[in-house]
Amino acid sequence: MANLALILVVFYLFPVLVPVLSSDFDPLLDVEQNYDRNITTTINPKCPQNECVNFTLVHVQQQGRTDVLHHLWTMENIPTFFYARTDINTELIIDWHKMLSGNNSQSISFSKEPQYFAAVLVLKFFMYDDLNDTGIIPKMNSYDTVSFSTKKMFWELKSSNYSGNRSASVAFRLVNYDGVDLDSSSNIEITLTAYGTRGRSPILPHLAFTENSTQIDFIFDRLETKESFTNARLAIELATVVSEPDSRFTLNVSQSLDDEYTPGVFKLMEVHSALNQHWIQWRPVCYTSTKRDIGDSTGVYQTGISNVTDEEIFDNSLLQWLSLDIDMSSLSMNGLNVSFGVEGDGFYKASNYTAWTMVTGHGSPIGDQFSVMVILVMAIGLGLPAVVLILGGVAIALRNHRNNKDDLLLSD
Ligand SMILES: *[C@@H]1O[C@H](CO)[C@@H](O)[C@H](O)[C@H]1NC(C)=O
Ligand SMILES: *[C@@H]1O[C@H](CO)[C@@H](O)[C@H](O)[C@H]1NC(C)=O
Ligand SMILES: *[C@@H]1O[C@H](CO)[C@@H](O)[C@H](O)[C@H]1NC(C)=O
Ligand SMILES: *[C@@H]1O[C@H](CO)[C@@H](O)[C@H](O)[C@H]1NC(C)=O
Ligand SMILES: *[C@@H]1O[C@H](CO)[C@@H](O)[C@H](O)[C@H]1NC(C)=O
Ligand SMILES: *[C@@H]1O[C@H](CO)[C@@H](O)[C@H](O)[C@H]1NC(C)=O
Ligand SMILES: *[C@@H]1O[C@H](CO)[C@@H](O)[C@H](O)[C@H]1NC(C)=O
Ligand SMILES: *[C@@H]1O[C@H](CO)[C@@H](O)[C@H](O)[C@H]1NC(C)=O
Ligand SMILES: *[C@@H]1O[C@H](CO)[C@@H](O)[C@H](O)[C@H]1NC(C)=O
Ligand SMILES: *[C@@H]1O[C@H](CO)[C@@H](O)[C@H](O)[C@H]1NC(C)=O
Ligand SMILES: *[C@@H]1O[C@H](CO)[C@@H](O)[C@H](O)[C@H]1NC(C)=O
Repeated sequence: MANLALILVVFYLFPVLVPVLSSDFDPLLDVEQNYDRNITTTINPKCPQNECVNFTLVHVQQQGRTDVLHHLWTMENIPTFFYARTDINTELIIDWHKMLSGNNSQSISFSKEPQYFAAVLVLKFFMYDDLNDTGIIPKMNSYDTVSFSTKKMFWELKSSNYSGNRSASVAFRLVNYDGVDLDSSSNIEITLTAYGTRGRSPILPHLAFTENSTQIDFIFDRLETKESFTNARLAIELATVVSEPDSRFTLNVSQSLDDEYTPGVFKLMEVHSALNQHWIQWRPVCYTSTKRDIGDSTGVYQTGISNVTDEEIFDNSLLQWLSLDIDMSSLSMNGLNVSFGVEGDGFYKASNYTAWTMVTGHGSPIGDQFSVMVILVMAIGLGLPAVVLILGGVAIALRNHRNNKDDLLLSD
């Protein structure tokens, strides 16, 4: 009877104790509060009037207390999302005359050499015929794969929102591929968002962002697939470069115990540079309707990271427009393919819609951390039985001990 009472006492006290123990555990509230950056966004900064009508270069300046992050986003020639960390009061200088003259090489510079820089590029879109329903894009280009070089794409600025100083967002829409306008009912969009603080994106899969990151969202809506491809799926090729001497990247997959941020998804993929200064993060999920809920989703597969050796990528890209101490073409580029859809999901034609989100940034990414709610549930679910077992065991041992004593007394 005594041990039952003890169990009941522990049972009722435990939930009261747990929040006390974990109240200062929230990772987003716990860290020092002075990391915020003030954001100022300009499109084609200081471009002479009317001369930049067919050109879009977005400059997002994130002013921190000790340094500035300059983001440069452009879809011209090849979608390139670049950032540089510079000293405070470092200015971006663009020689627009040169930029628009046709030879834009070395037309962008900084008043002081950046401390660090990195970029993410979108190299290709693929459409492939997944004959065996694996969801994995063939390793080599074959007749079952059609590739679309982003160098042949022309994009328009669809919308932007950077009035506040806490975030900046721009959306681009594909207009034309290799001289042919995209079908008016189809839509391919890339949206970039930078925040001046830490938090989680309001849209699923609710990836975490930091004051140093850029969220990149892809939408492939109602694309016409090649007629002969009965099992058409889509994929993209991404590449990244960093100003680190060792250009090797590592892919890490972490498995979480809970899916509170992204229902149904327990994995988080992360690619990071050798010095852990630059990272890309995503969840292996893409959404098959604008609603983005768990019922309208499928998986994503990525290939391993490999060297991208195509020298032509640099030609006339933003990386070549930059004038920096480090020679861009000496940096090696790492790439990976991400394919949308997994076995048994009915292929792209099942929805004719794919939306996928990734985040790239500088510093350390925010991984999956347990919220207070989950810690509480785990503590009660796992901790309580353990405590009950131990206390129960102790109580029984004590009682046995007393009984033994009683026995001894009796036998005396
Ligand atoms: C912008 O593009 C349009 C259509 O491609 C073209 O007609 C126009 O001349 C271009 N303007 C400039 C300033 O390059
Ligand atoms: C952002 O701007 C506000 C108002 O000008 C200023 O008080 C604050 O210190 C700035 N923050 C940073 C990180 O520069
Ligand atoms: C373009 O400009 C760069 C640097 O100003 C120069 O080295 C190069 O020769 C130029 N290329 C052409 C084709 O004019
Ligand atoms: C599909 O599976 C067959 C038999 O397992 C195999 O021979 C073929 O190479 C596979 N095709 C592809 C594109 O993977
Ligand atoms: C623009 O961004 C702010 C947050 O920075 C948001 O409150 C607002 O709704 C956005 N406006 C549009 C039109 O999306
Ligand atoms: C940023 O926005 C806040 C609120 O709108 C304002 O108080 C602050 O002064 C702004 N800072 C800058 C640098 O514009
Ligand atoms: C990534 O994985 C490698 C090996 O699997 C491990 O050594 C490394 O610590 C991991 N890095 C991070 C940031 O998790
Ligand atoms: C990529 O190239 C670097 C040197 O340029 C080499 O050290 C590395 O092993 C290569 N990685 C792969 C995956 O081939
Ligand atoms: C991506 O897939 C294409 C087509 O199979 C292949 O040519 C390319 O090398 C792959 N890229 C990477 C980085 O694995
Ligand atoms: C997707 O498009 C294909 C071809 O245009 C069509 O056959 C199919 O029914 C569409 N799927 C949905 C779910 O609308
Ligand atoms: C953001 O970058 C700064 C350096 O510019 C670094 O001190 C800080 O830790 C980074 N924040 C995160 C969350 O990685």
